Amino acid sequence: MSMEGTTISAAQVQAAVEAAGLAPSIHNSQPWKWRLRGDTLELSADLSRALPVIDPDHRQLLVSCGAALLNGWLSLRAAGLDVEVAELPDGPDISAGRLATLEVLGNRPPTEDEARLAAAITQRHTDRRPFGPGAVPADEIRELRRAAEAEGCWLSVLTGEDARVELAVLLARADWFEHHDPQYLAELADWTRTDPDAVDGITWATADPGAKPQYAEFPLRDFTGGAGGAGAGAGAGADGGAGGGGRAEAGPALDDTVEHPEALVLGTDADGPTDRLRAGRALGRVLLAATTAGLATSPLGQAVDIEATRTLVRSATGGAGHAQMILRAGYPDRSIPPLTPTKRRPVSEVLEHVSMT
Ligand SMILES: Cc1cc2nc3c(=O)[nH]c(=O)nc-3n(C[C@H](O)[C@H](O)[C@H](O)COP(=O)(O)O)c2cc1C
Repeated sequence: MSMEGTTISAAQVQAAVEAAGLAPSIHNSQPWKWRLRGDTLELSADLSRALPVIDPDHRQLLVSCGAALLNGWLSLRAAGLDVEVAELPDGPDISAGRLATLEVLGNRPPTEDEARLAAAITQRHTDRRPFGPGAVPADEIRELRRAAEAEGCWLSVLTGEDARVELAVLLARADWFEHHDPQYLAELADWTRTDPDAVDGITWATADPGAKPQYAEFPLRDFTGGAGGAGAGAGAGADGGAGGGGRAEAGPALDDTVEHPEALVLGTDADGPTDRLRAGRALGRVLLAATTAGLATSPLGQAVDIEATRTLVRSATGGAGHAQMILRAGYPDRSIPPLTPTKRRPVSEVLEHVSMT
């Protein structure tokens, strides 16, 4: 048994938990807790931060925690530490056991890929602003696919017209159901923040509908509960079609061009807790790989919130496996104002030190 903290330094622990905290999470709920025991960082779900309406079976919580796990691991690897990852070491009951452990075994230099991805952690943000018109080249898409596969998942790119129309319809359908569900709206309101310095939840600056694509093939999640027309563009599938949502003023750089982003579906072959955790690792890796390639991304999550729609998304991808996340990807439009990153809870709130004696 190793002596307490013989290999990992306090600074490395701090950096790893901070990097993990920068992971994307559903509604920026940051539903994780870390414990340091000897040379092992232990990740658990913080079920007090679960979202029972949008995520009744904790699927998206597990995806969020998987992304945090990837960031924590990358941070330790970038620091030159050799790390052994164990998933669900106490079994599948996430309310009773740990989700994962990162045990530091010694020293090992990072690969180039690990160092590059780790460096992108602070640069990655969900970008709900309109994208520029440039298409994403096939070799960049291949890199993203490889990133998903490196974590045992798959990434399907919706290119065919039928599949894209199907996705647009499913997103619009999910939007409709969610915006007619008072419980969904109440939960969303609970996680929407007017204070720009809020350390969790979605702040108005990042949800701001004023900087969303007015005409877009796919509707983004509306964090305003319908008040700001952030679903603008929902169903505006035809060039010049009317943007929905009734926003009176176009934001900067908005014109009649319809946004046609890449639509990527991330999935797993099976759908147990380990698969969902894996999906989170893959999501994190795909988003970091996209960041290093200069791409902007944002989830189109509505269609996978609802189980019935999630199954239909799977058929839009060709039918195999389980859809875990849908992403919109493209090149940022440099002419619009920069985005305001969301904030995070301090490390002291999420990390507990456990004595080995
Ligand atoms: C499982 C999961 C589902 C998400 N769903 C959506 C979504 O439907 N729409 C959206 O705009 N962002 C979605 N997000 C992005 C989060 O809102 C975002 O990660 C969080 O607010 C933190 O912001 P950041 O990604 O810029 O760090 C999702 C993230 C995760 C991990």
